[in-house]
Amino acid sequence: MAPLNLGFVGTGIFATDKHLPTFQKNPEHFKPIAAFNRTRSKAETFAEKAQIESNHIYDSLDDILKDPKVDFIDALLPAQNNNETIQKAIQAGKPIIVEKPIAADLKDAQKIVQLSRETELPILIGEQWIYFKSVDLIKERLEKIGPIISFTYRSTGPFYNQNKYLQTSWRQNPKHIGGFLSDGGVHQLALLTEVLGEVSTINAHTKQVRKESGTDDILFSTVKLENDVIGTFTYGSAFGAVEKHGSFIIYGLNGSITLDFSAKNPHKKLTTLIGTYGEEIKDEEVLEFDEDPTQGVGLEFENFYQAVTTKDKSILKSTPEKTYHHLAIIAAALESSQKNGDTVEISKP
Ligand SMILES: NC(=O)c1ccc[n+]([C@@H]2O[C@H](COP(=O)([O-])OP(=O)(O)OC[C@H]3O[C@@H](n4cnc5c(N)ncnc54)[C@H](OP(=O)(O)O)[C@@H]3O)[C@@H](O)[C@H]2O)c1
Repeated sequence: MAPLNLGFVGTGIFATDKHLPTFQKNPEHFKPIAAFNRTRSKAETFAEKAQIESNHIYDSLDDILKDPKVDFIDALLPAQNNNETIQKAIQAGKPIIVEKPIAADLKDAQKIVQLSRETELPILIGEQWIYFKSVDLIKERLEKIGPIISFTYRSTGPFYNQNKYLQTSWRQNPKHIGGFLSDGGVHQLALLTEVLGEVSTINAHTKQVRKESGTDDILFSTVKLENDVIGTFTYGSAFGAVEKHGSFIIYGLNGSITLDFSAKNPHKKLTTLIGTYGEEIKDEEVLEFDEDPTQGVGLEFENFYQAVTTKDKSILKSTPEKTYHHLAIIAAALESSQKNGDTVEISKP
């Protein structure tokens, strides 16, 4: 089977640094053939790297969608553009990948979910953490420590002034709810909910630490899951100098699982302890591992390829529904914080 021809919409940092090289590593399945970017010169530079012919560099979304050679769209835009881009792509008969977060707000996210229910064409939200090996490794071990009682999830780190992603103007003047909280927080929530299930309610406090964030950028919360598991979720990369910390600890009646993904460790570390009491650790497993070299992005593209070529959107893992949930948790956290930490239910699409 010939590779799928793809058209890029938005040729910024992540398109250049991650998507393009990942597609290029899999020429049997993907062939970049077209590009559109708001600032044309960036599309031209990108096209050179991607070996896209100059007559396939476009000046508008409508024009790239008219290209009959383009089999699907890969859109990497600020989230407020996702809904319109998806609606137009599906109207033009093109399957589409857009980057997380699913949308700028829940109203737009709802429209995307609705469309994904109506169309047979695959719509993938690029949330590569859903494809992490960590998810499968933890899930394989959950039964051993069950029943699950609670968890703590913490991802905290310093603000990096020179980070090129953090310097993008759309991140510093966010039109998407939660700014950095939804930009990075949805990844963490993807891992959490893939492993333990959906969140039911949240009590949260959020705060803005950095003016560069444009809005609140740290989040401290307690949450209850649909399955009555309780836990804490803490997220923020806006602090002063501090070690970047990442840990997800799951507490069961018969043991615990700890995923350590702190930056100081060269690998991820998964520790499973089995035992009903502290004095009686019957079994201990320590596993060091790396995610795949594309950090999940290659796996999400492969999932999309299979869905498009088999015409079966039901096999998609990173769906609009799932990613709606991640954004809805951020929205509920912001609402809870405004109400001084009151309990807020997570809305459903
Ligand atoms: N999954 C992940 O781990 C991950 C990591 C990083 C980024 N991302 C996602 O990738 C997407 C791009 O992020 P990035 O970091 O690559 O940012 P970026 O370099 O700023 O790229 C954004 C692109 O969108 C274009 N754009 C900006 N505002 C626009 C508007 N109003 N209308 C049309 N186009 C507009 C920009 O065009 P100009 O050249 O004209 O400014 C630029 O090419 C975002 O959705 C982000 O959430 C995901």
